[in-house]
Parts: sequence; C-alpha cells; structure tokens
Amino acid sequence: MRRIIIAIDGYAATGKSTTARGVAEALDYLHIDSGAMYRAVAWFLREKGVSTPTAEALPELLQDFTLHLEREGKEMVVYVGDRRLEEELRQPEIATFASEVSVFPVVRERLIAEQRRLGRKGGVVMDGRDIGTVVFPHAELKVFMQADLAARVERRYRELLQRGLPADKEAIARELIERDHRDETRPISPLRKAPDARILDTTHLTIPEQIAQVVTWAKELIYAPTV
Ligand code: DC
Repeated sequence: MRRIIIAIDGYAATGKSTTARGVAEALDYLHIDSGAMYRAVAWFLREKGVSTPTAEALPELLQDFTLHLEREGKEMVVYVGDRRLEEELRQPEIATFASEVSVFPVVRERLIAEQRRLGRKGGVVMDGRDIGTVVFPHAELKVFMQADLAARVERRYRELLQRGLPADKEAIARELIERDHRDETRPISPLRKAPDARILDTTHLTIPEQIAQVVTWAKELIYAPTV
C-alpha cells in the first residue's frame, strides 16, 4: 500500500496539530508537529537569555543547538540536547517567540532539512505553515486549515483554561492576529496556501469531523488505482 506524505498547513489555533495527530493515528502514520521544532528553538534561545535575536548573532547562538524527535508510543517527543520538552513548548509566550525566530533563514534551513529527513520515506502527517509549499511541495495530499477568528479564540481560550493557565479572549485574539500576520508576511516561506491544497474550514467542525475529512481525502489517494 502507498504510504503518502500529508502536509497540513494553516493559521494558528485552527486545530492543525490535533487533526494531524488524529489522522496519523487513523492511518498508522507518523505525526510530526513542525511548530514544536520552531518552539524548541525559541525555548533554547530563551534559556540562553536571548530576547531579540539578530541574523548576525544566531549562527553562533545555535551552534550547540541539537534537536531530536523521539517516538514515545504514538507521540513524537522533542528533545533539545538531553532535555525532554513538553509543557515548556506549549506556553503562549513561546508560541509568539517561535514565530519571531522563524523569520530567520538560518533557523528555517536547519529545521527544514530535519523535516525533510524525517518525512522522506512517506507515511507521515506533518503540520505547520510551509509544509505543502516549501518542505514537501510534492506531498500527495495538502490541506490548508482556516477558521473564523472567533472560533479560533474560543478554541484557544478553552484549551488554556483546561490547562489551568490564565486566559483572556481579547489578549488571545490580539496574539493570534499578530502571529498570523507575521507568519504571512515574512519574506521566506510565508504562511500561504499551496495552489493544490484543499481548504478545510474548521469554524463549524468538531475535531472528529476534521480528522474524518482528511482521512477520507487520504484514503481516496492511497487506494486510487495507479496508472
Ligand atoms: O504551529 P505552532 O503554532 O506551534 O507554530 C509556532 C510558530 O512557529 C508559528 O507561529 C510560526 C512558526 N512555524 C513556522 O514558521 N513554520 C512551520 N512549518 C511551523 C511553525
């Protein structure tokens, strides 16, 4: 059976990672959350006390940055050096800082090389911002996720409350708008729908519905007769 590459891109808080994880589970594929890799760089720089990185300083700062993803059960866990990172990467300020550091070519080049290595054999669902456009432009299935701002704010708000973190809807909306704008307007690998990506609008969908839609698209391709 063909083991395809599924690229899921889209705006923040549209449910990309949750959908990608569910699709990977349904197909017994590997899920790679590329955002977690950018968050890992952000976390690493934070630990070094860096708050405003520059293109000049970054190559040296990243010299001792080593990232690896380890499969633990169904999850891929991120390690920087021998430090296992989980909750650290899910802090809202790390998301914002990840978006800031992701504009630098030196950061993107390193992570993209690793993402391509991880996905080269297929059987992978990778979510991010530039997976269908830059990392795997030949991915068999590309999905671009979007949702109304109000739905995304609500989703993030409930997630933060569930995790026992402070949540304020106005602040969440501001953060999402600012981050999407930065991700869409950066000069390299901006967040953009690939011309051949299918749009998945999740405003009125539940998570199981989102997953089911992508699985249906994937199966159509996996089981399509090859000519
Ligand atoms: O998917 P996420 O919210 O965890 O991503 C955090 C930030 O990382 C996002 O705002 C921009 C950056 N990112 C990126 O530039 N390219 C990717 N493929 C994934 C994430």
